[in-house]
Amino acid sequence: MTGENHFSKNKRGFWTQWILTLACTVTCVASPHAAPPNMSSAEIDQKVSSTLKRMTLEEKLGQLQQLCGAWDGDCLPEDFALARQGRLGSTIFIRGAKRTAELQRVAVNESRLHIPVLFAFDVIHGYRTIFPVPLGEAASWDPRGAERSTSIAADEASAAGIRWTFAPMVDIARDPRWGRIVEGAGEDPFLGMAMAAARVRGFQGTNYGLPDKVVACAKHWVAYGAAEGGRDYNTAEVSERTLREIYFPPFKAALDAGVGTFMSAFNDLDGLPGSVNSFTLSKVLRGEWHFDGVVVSDYNAVNELIAHGVAADGKDAAAQALNAGVDMEMFSRLYNENGAELLKEKKVSRKTIDEAVRRVLRLKYQLGLFEHPYADEAHEKATLLNPAHLKAARELAARSFVLLKNERGTLPISKDLKSIAVIGPLADDPQNILGPWCGDGRKEDSVTLLAGIRAKLPGATVNYAKGCDVTGNSTEGFNEAEDAARQSDFVIVAVGETSSMSGEAASRSSLDLPGRQLELIQAIHAIGKPYAVVLMNGRPLSINWLATNSPAILETWFAGTQGGNAIADTLFGDANPGGKLPVTFPRSVGQVPIYYNHKNTGRPPGVDPKSPLPYLDIPWTPLYPFGYGLSYTSFAISNLQLSAAHIRPDGSITASVEVKNTGDRAGDEVVQLYIHRLVASVTRPVQELKGFQRVSLQPGESRRVEFLLGPRELGFYDRAMRFAVEPGKIQIKVGASSEDGLESSFEIIKPR
Ligand code: NOJ
Repeated sequence: MTGENHFSKNKRGFWTQWILTLACTVTCVASPHAAPPNMSSAEIDQKVSSTLKRMTLEEKLGQLQQLCGAWDGDCLPEDFALARQGRLGSTIFIRGAKRTAELQRVAVNESRLHIPVLFAFDVIHGYRTIFPVPLGEAASWDPRGAERSTSIAADEASAAGIRWTFAPMVDIARDPRWGRIVEGAGEDPFLGMAMAAARVRGFQGTNYGLPDKVVACAKHWVAYGAAEGGRDYNTAEVSERTLREIYFPPFKAALDAGVGTFMSAFNDLDGLPGSVNSFTLSKVLRGEWHFDGVVVSDYNAVNELIAHGVAADGKDAAAQALNAGVDMEMFSRLYNENGAELLKEKKVSRKTIDEAVRRVLRLKYQLGLFEHPYADEAHEKATLLNPAHLKAARELAARSFVLLKNERGTLPISKDLKSIAVIGPLADDPQNILGPWCGDGRKEDSVTLLAGIRAKLPGATVNYAKGCDVTGNSTEGFNEAEDAARQSDFVIVAVGETSSMSGEAASRSSLDLPGRQLELIQAIHAIGKPYAVVLMNGRPLSINWLATNSPAILETWFAGTQGGNAIADTLFGDANPGGKLPVTFPRSVGQVPIYYNHKNTGRPPGVDPKSPLPYLDIPWTPLYPFGYGLSYTSFAISNLQLSAAHIRPDGSITASVEVKNTGDRAGDEVVQLYIHRLVASVTRPVQELKGFQRVSLQPGESRRVEFLLGPRELGFYDRAMRFAVEPGKIQIKVGASSEDGLESSFEIIKPR
């Protein structure tokens, strides 16, 4: 299978989906009503029209309102009152079969038109069973794994009454200072597309009307990840070409995978915040892409149009957002407060309001909410933290780890050792390992690294010492940590960031290890015992000292509920790391933005020896490049073959290589294909990922891996901003990271 096939071969996608659905039906707990709504889309449209005719304006505006419950998942008294009046379209945060059913009963039984409430929640990387953060999941380069984790998340969330998740977050992020880089798939649109589509398929299945599925939401539309300076919510200044080539594709992939909803972003883009941006909302999303599903604003984003300075007051903000095509308002209540007046003053038409309500009602019918409005407590109990879910969480976490360094085979550690020191502020921290946006995940469910190592080595002495906090200045714990190291045969040091140092409103100006953690590692290093550093973090870190001096570094992101077991599996060789970086690791924050698919300048560094280097004080190359990651075994990639020397612009070509496990243990290699176009009507990146495949090989085993390149991979936006495949020479590189590989080339020839 080629990397491209992850989302372009519809037939194969169907069968993969079918097999996964079947597998899940076997391993997951059966849902109480396992049938999609028994209605054709024409019947749904008819029902929606007849409901719409009976609705008052107040009831209509109520359907466009999403309000918050309490953070802990409870309903607020007002929610009941509004549900009774038929004025509560949707909620966020309210969760749990019992709580949602209580409120739902009021909406369904006591409101005039019996329209159910749609319960939404940020199910980002798991509901109760927490999987690795999305950046980590992307590091697995395993879209099937992402489909599996989101399918389980949907199973658990729907069992708890949630039928709408605000995920996948598909924002490309080229700036690791931005805390929300943790929620996406990293810096690359091609990997981002594969992950976006997989996550949508996992959440929604073949039909989000199935009661164990949730409707997904592609967010944040758009360019939120381009926040200037990496400061959250900040202005994004991005050209149309970069939007179309870098920021749009994962959204388009989500749409092609059938995503049901979109969320308009907070940020200003070319003078227009996401909820009033006529270019992104009307021209592209509704116009070019024909998206007719629900667009929900981000939290309070309609109200924030006032602070952005594009709306004079709440009424003006409501009019602009409604007219721009934002159907549902999250948190602020400006549609409801101003809708009647806006209609009277003809600032918003009845048709605009009706269309928005129609989309919301259609979604509720499609979800089967009218037929199955309630979650079931017994089913919820049997579903959350189900053993099959925990097993998947452990396996998928191990697949997300990236081995950054492993000098002289420091890892894996022998299970025969008598004593081991487990040191560091994150070694026994059940909360931070869950990551910044962990749904209903609870620290009492999570396995820390210390617990994972104890379970792995029941006969060994495990000497634990925290050493220091993640932040702060105290080194008081260093002595105890050094003693623990001295008394042990091997030392693990778990350091990184707290989970609240990434995620929303969590940007950092430094990419260094915070607090005194580096000094803790240096103190352990000085003792001279063999040791490995385990990193837990939500963004690339500039870990130069470690990269030079520490013998082994394992990047584990925030690995979730089963994180400690998965890390122990990996440290002791029961799992072999096969992840690759989905984002560049800079040497210094001063290099940011730094990404692998940059353009050449007129004086490319590293090409012409006379060219000035971009920095006087540090190398211009990254610390670790995109696509990089080691394994406990070794691989050889050889024999690159192309199926043709030239093709027509509408043609396609196959590139294939042989990959062989040349070491002595089973392992995974991610074979990556990059292209570079030498001459084009507009400047092109020095390389672009256009195919990948994660292959598992036994020692000595080899396999031929094929990639198909067609117009979709070879085209780009030309000088006239048309997507086209221009004639010219294409260089191909196939290897194990963006920094190495076998090279070849072919020509695209204009037909006569
Ligand atoms: C704001 C965030 O930007 C968005 O991603 C999230 O879905 C909403 N809050 C709801 O929690």
